[in-house]
Amino acid sequence: MKEQQVKFYYKNVLESVLGSEHGITQKQLDELAAKTEPLIEKLNADRKAGKTKYRDLPYQAETIKKVKAVAEQVKWCENFVILGIGGSALGNIALQTALNPYMYNLDDKQRKGCPRLFVMDNVDPMQMSSFLSYIGERLDKTVFNVISKSGRTAETASQFLTICQMLENKLGKDSLNKHVVATTDLKSGTLRKTADTFGLTTLEVPDGVGGRFSVLSPVGLLGAAVCGVDIEQLLAGAAAMDKRVSEKSFYKNPAAINAAINWHYYNRGKRISVMMSYSYALKDFADWYRQLWAESLGKAKDLFGKEVFVGPTPVKALGATDQHSQVQLYREGPNDKLFTFLAVEKFAADVKIAPAPAIAPELGYLSNRNISELLNSERLGTEYAFIASKRPSLTIAFDEISPYTVGQFIYLLEASTSLAGMLFGIDAYDQPAVELGKEATFALMGSGDYAALAEKIKPFSQIDDKYII
Ligand code: PA5
Repeated sequence: MKEQQVKFYYKNVLESVLGSEHGITQKQLDELAAKTEPLIEKLNADRKAGKTKYRDLPYQAETIKKVKAVAEQVKWCENFVILGIGGSALGNIALQTALNPYMYNLDDKQRKGCPRLFVMDNVDPMQMSSFLSYIGERLDKTVFNVISKSGRTAETASQFLTICQMLENKLGKDSLNKHVVATTDLKSGTLRKTADTFGLTTLEVPDGVGGRFSVLSPVGLLGAAVCGVDIEQLLAGAAAMDKRVSEKSFYKNPAAINAAINWHYYNRGKRISVMMSYSYALKDFADWYRQLWAESLGKAKDLFGKEVFVGPTPVKALGATDQHSQVQLYREGPNDKLFTFLAVEKFAADVKIAPAPAIAPELGYLSNRNISELLNSERLGTEYAFIASKRPSLTIAFDEISPYTVGQFIYLLEASTSLAGMLFGIDAYDQPAVELGKEATFALMGSGDYAALAEKIKPFSQIDDKYII
């Protein structure tokens, strides 16, 4: 059988397609190759030196065994609830949408004996209250996977505390170890301490792997395995892409070309990066990508401490839905965007359109055609329309959506992020700017360590009547 692939297509950024004002010439591509090839070598060397631990996630036979054992242990449940945020949630949501059917949670038949999956990645009171009322009546058939590397993340911690109390009140103190699995740091942190105290089953967030690069670790693997996804194939796909993105030659390395084209356009004023999926199943990977790209590349300082304030703004779009919402802007608004289409050659399921009635002969072109033909024609039509407006686009094409191709896609985007970070000259693995807002929240919530900060925030949080109309 031919191996399913993820292909990277970049012709629609070339000068020969878009003209010189918006296209990239062969000379510019060669210059990008010369700049990027040493960075590929450096990234490969960094990996050998243990500086990019996420690169080793495809090769974790022991972890797979452990994840599968925990998945087996909780397979009695009817509801599997993930408590986490950011890198602890987005990969789980994306894997579920991509690899399980649209009606998975609602249709027992489509779930094939696996539990429903819920990912609670916010602390919205109305959302949580509705969810708790639903899950509270099903606690005895529910397992919670609390995921937090630090264990101190306010959103996850508040959910976890609430759930623990519900479990204790309804099922007794001893219920925690049956109903909760904690995924956290191996040794340190609040969640590790709590898990060890209560004797919870635990899985590890590997050392040196940041949240947004952790989907191929137990952070994403447990939820996927519990919901019937073939996690070995997922990692096999990532391993296959590892070979391609380690390739020293720029023109053979899809991550290098992707990162370089994104960086090039950023420097030419196209600072918005739109990921437009022409597959509902892949739409949540655009959300996952938003975090990966934004937290990794949006930085005030370069590696030498010089202020640079860089970072492309990632935007999510869905075809064909957003053709009726965004495409007007994308074609006629400012030419400040680079588009990445997600395309699928062969969909796992299809629907035949019914014949048009005699009174509507103008719909005859749809009769007996497949919905997949319509969606892919809309994608090609949009690509064509973008070229007519001189808008550059890349396409990442999946032969099919499967664990194997999804693993390739994840690894391609992660390696692209590392290389883009190197091109921008910044640290792609930290996120210092999220701290102040977190600390301000601790202060406003009365956490003792931040009393002085709470005083500082007061003048900004008091409403000034002068400005209310
Ligand atoms: O990419 C990251 O590191 C962050 O988005 C984290 O995943 C997020 O803040 C959650 O952190 P934690 O796992 O410590 O709860």
